[in-house]
Formats: sequence, C-alpha cells, structure tokens
Amino acid sequence: MINTLHLNALDPAGREEAIEKAAELLRQGKLVIIPTETVYGLAANALDAQAVSRIFVAKGRPQDNPLIVHISDMAQLDPLVREVPRSARLLAEKFWPGPLTMVMPKSQAVPDVTSGGLDTVAVRMPSHQTARDIIEKSGLPLAAPSANLSGSPSPTTAHRCAQDMDGRVEAIVVDEDSQVGVESTVIALHGEDVLVLRPGAVTPEDLASVLGSEHVSVHSSITAPLQPGEKAESPGMKYKHYAPKAEVTILRGSKEAFAEFAAQQKGKDGVYLLRFEEDGDYGLPSLCYGSQSDPASQAHRLFEALRELDELGAKTVYAHCPEAEGVGLAVYNRLLRAAAFRVIDLD
Ligand code: TXA
Ligand code: MG
Repeated sequence: MINTLHLNALDPAGREEAIEKAAELLRQGKLVIIPTETVYGLAANALDAQAVSRIFVAKGRPQDNPLIVHISDMAQLDPLVREVPRSARLLAEKFWPGPLTMVMPKSQAVPDVTSGGLDTVAVRMPSHQTARDIIEKSGLPLAAPSANLSGSPSPTTAHRCAQDMDGRVEAIVVDEDSQVGVESTVIALHGEDVLVLRPGAVTPEDLASVLGSEHVSVHSSITAPLQPGEKAESPGMKYKHYAPKAEVTILRGSKEAFAEFAAQQKGKDGVYLLRFEEDGDYGLPSLCYGSQSDPASQAHRLFEALRELDELGAKTVYAHCPEAEGVGLAVYNRLLRAAAFRVIDLD
C-alpha cells in the first residue's frame, strides 16, 4: 500500500504547488493520476520502462494492451516516432490539443512495455490545462491509460479515481470533472487513409472534414463484436470493457416503445432504467444520462451513471439507445460494451 497524496489543483492558491509536486513525482518514476478533458489518466514517464510497468500492476491491466503517450508540445512528437505521416500533421493542426490519439510507427526511444510490444505508439496532446502544465513541468512524455481498475468504467471524477486507486498510486491531482466523459478517439494511419479504432469526441465526420470522407473508415468492432479470427487492430478491442455489475441491455426504439417496455418491468426486483432526460421513469427506479438530442451530454454522464447504478445495487439495467452518430457513436460503442452487445429492437 502506498500513502496516496491528494494534490488539489482546484484551489488557485495551491494549483502551482500541486503541479510542481506531480511533475517531481513523475520525474522520480512514480505514478500520478492526472485530469484530462476526456477522463482521468494514470500517468508515468513513458520512456521509463520500470515506471510504466507499475501502471499495469496498479490497474491490473493485461501487459499486451498498449498505452497512450501524452505530450504538450509538437517538439515532443518527433523523438517518439519514426515518421509523422502527412495526414497526421494535418489532423494534429486541426485537433491537437484535444481528444484525438494517433497511432504511428514508434522509435527506439519508446520502451516495448509502453507500446505493448507493438511496432507502433499511440500519441495524444490533451487540451486540459492542468494536464498540459504537468507534462510541461515534468519535461516528459507521459504514458497514461484511464485511471480505473481494469474492467471498470473510466473515471470522470477525482472521487472515482480515489475509490479505485487510493493506495496504488503516489498521488492524485484533484481537478474538475472531465468535460468530455469518454476516452479519446483512437485512429490508425495507413498512407492517406485513417481507420477509427475507438470512437470519441473527434468524430469520423470531423476527420473527414480534413482528409475527405473517402479517406476515413470506421473499424467494424466499434458496433459489433470482433468475429472469430478477425484481427484486433487495437489490443483494447479484445478486452471486455466498462463492465458494470448489473446486466445491461440496450433498448433500441422510439420514446413510446421504450415507455411500453418499461411499463412491463414495473415491480420486478433490481430493475433500473438508464434513460434520457426526455423519457419518463414509468414508475421504475432510474438514472438519466443526458439529453436524447445532445450526445455530448450523454458522453459526459455515461460512465458516472454506470458506476452509480452499481452503487444502487441494480441487477438489471435497460438503457435507452443513443443515436449512433457524431459523438453519439462513442456513447453507443461504450454502452454496447457495457451491455456485452445485448440489444433489443423494440420497433
Ligand atoms: O482519452 C484517453 O485516451 C484517455 C486519457 C487518459 O488520455 N486514455 C485512455 O487510455 O483511454 P487507455 O489505455 O484506457 O486506452 C488506450 C487505447 C486502448 O484501446 C489501446 O488498445 C489503444 O488505445 N492503443 C494504444 N496504443 C495502441 C497502438 N500502438 N496500436 C493500436 N491501439 C493502441
Ligand atoms: Mg481504459
């Protein structure tokens, strides 16, 4: 057990000190949880194989699932990669800093443990000011997966980080709740083309606005389970993610069909609805995850709602299906995994 420091970056008077302490610990090869605009990240010096190995232990993460390396400045990119494809430069200009991760051929400087033994490295430049300040102060690229125990939903608040990770990390930098709420968009670059491996707040449409829609495709595993024999381009695809304790089922259909289905569940033990603000609760215990017409609000709320449902002791959860478009694709992808791909078509 480690005595975990809670460094408060919310108090303007203490912020500078919190950032300096976090940077110092990172330079010493320690683990520090940092806020980002997507979800909180469990950070270590990406170039220090020993420090990075500790991330896997702290999270209970499979060793072959590679980490994202976080930078605060374009000058940090070149030493990490063998080449920066032209498309990556164009996308970086438009979407960095921000919730976009790009997979590129890795240089010798990146230890195998960081890249899960792959020949590529995933890089992202976060926009969160505290994250940027910590990276800059430490002078290091930071490897940081989401700061949850492997298998539970990514944490969007410092409180959830503490629940999962107190005693396992040196420090938690306490800041505001993550604004986006789902992890970054991960893309692989193949010549002029990009393949979305994990959807996020930078949407396929956003990528197409820079590269042209003929150059953007979405991996089939985003909306369907990996087929036997199908290659997991991103090792993360293989693992069961975001698994709440309750059995989650997605209900696809109109507000009316959702209402009718819900009414039939009334009185059943441990049944909860995960619904939109526009839906009624139909006499069942329920939690809202944003507005049906605002996918960004759904992304912001989803992981926290899944954790709350577990705390409430929900056994069965019926979730109203989001529109799988734009940011909604990321919401649908995370919910599908939480539901182990159980979907009922109501209409
Ligand atoms: O928003 C985010 O991306 C957050 C914050 C902390 O930045 N981080 C995050 O990291 O979500 P993690 O480790 O939970 O997810 C990283 C994903 C995994 O699905 C992993 O398989 C994929 O990125 N990945 C990492 N390196 C890769 C590579 N070289 N090739 C393909 N996929 C890779
Ligand atoms: Mg994760």
